[in-house]
Amino acid sequence: MKISKSSFSRLHSTNFTDLKFGTVFSDHMLICKYIDGKWGELEIKPYGPLDMNPGSQILHYGQAVFEGMKAFKNDKDEVLLFRKEENYKRLNKSAVRLSIPKIPRDIFMNGLDSLLSIDSDWCKKDDGYSLYIRPVIFASGECIKASSSEEFTFVIITSPSTKYYDGEMNVVVEEHYTRAPEGGVGFAKAAGNYAASFYPTKKANAKGFQQVIWTDAKDHKYIEESGTMNIWFRIDNKLITPSLSDSILSGITRDSIITLAKDNGIEVEERKIKVTEILESYKKGKLKEAFGTGTAVTVNPINSITIYNECLYLNEQVDAYALKLKNLLQGIQKGSIVDSYNWTDKVN
Ligand code: COI
Repeated sequence: MKISKSSFSRLHSTNFTDLKFGTVFSDHMLICKYIDGKWGELEIKPYGPLDMNPGSQILHYGQAVFEGMKAFKNDKDEVLLFRKEENYKRLNKSAVRLSIPKIPRDIFMNGLDSLLSIDSDWCKKDDGYSLYIRPVIFASGECIKASSSEEFTFVIITSPSTKYYDGEMNVVVEEHYTRAPEGGVGFAKAAGNYAASFYPTKKANAKGFQQVIWTDAKDHKYIEESGTMNIWFRIDNKLITPSLSDSILSGITRDSIITLAKDNGIEVEERKIKVTEILESYKKGKLKEAFGTGTAVTVNPINSITIYNECLYLNEQVDAYALKLKNLLQGIQKGSIVDSYNWTDKVN
């Protein structure tokens, strides 16, 4: 691995008390290129512009996949990475669907470890802080024929973070636009999934909603995800979340919440959820909570859901599952709760 360290750190000029998610980057980045059918040497260098030509395929066809992962600092000043194995597997699953060559395990794991140990000071120990990690692979071949690239670039950048969303989360069920059709790339962390969500989200924002609830592409009857999150409903005392399909992202936080809920006596159902079921449950007084989960947000309560012009207000519960599960998850991530699942790895 080639390592060239930055001669000047931006750490001390960074305002950690007012971090806007995804806008501040640590001193270094990792790069590895795929050329002539193989991944080359890993390089860690100061964070900065990439050399790229206007003919690079990513710019024209969006052939790119990414991951979102987090590291936390415990009381002993050790950096703990959360479920890196799952992110590694999902990155390669997404890569295959987008016709991108898989990243070898040693490149991903060694690169990640070295990058995090060099920039470990960017991972703050105070409550609420984490280091958000963004691996991305994009088509870097220079060719504007609409075909899969023959060259790719793998990059990891990291960004100190606190909250993703600020304030209330009022969501609206999307009845026209679609995030992902059956047989598409919805299960993959493909860059284009997010690009396609921005316009409908902006329209919802203009009506006062923070996010939309995505529904199935065929007839918008079934609930799929909300914004960039997997979605959950507490009906009576059962937690219900849409079962995975090729149009739903298999969230690592989603998977962790299923395990934590079950192990803490909460009944969980993964199944198809009709929009009308949510409406009816609310009218019968059975819908107690809704929340979203994702790496960036962790667990984010939903304050209201608008379905077919009816606004369902969700009052804060004294025994909220969202809060209970968030505390358990964050405790494990930060090392203040014993990790009996082996979800965390120390960075060497
Ligand atoms: C995440 O939760 O990590 C995501 O990837 C969602 C978003 C920041 C794009």
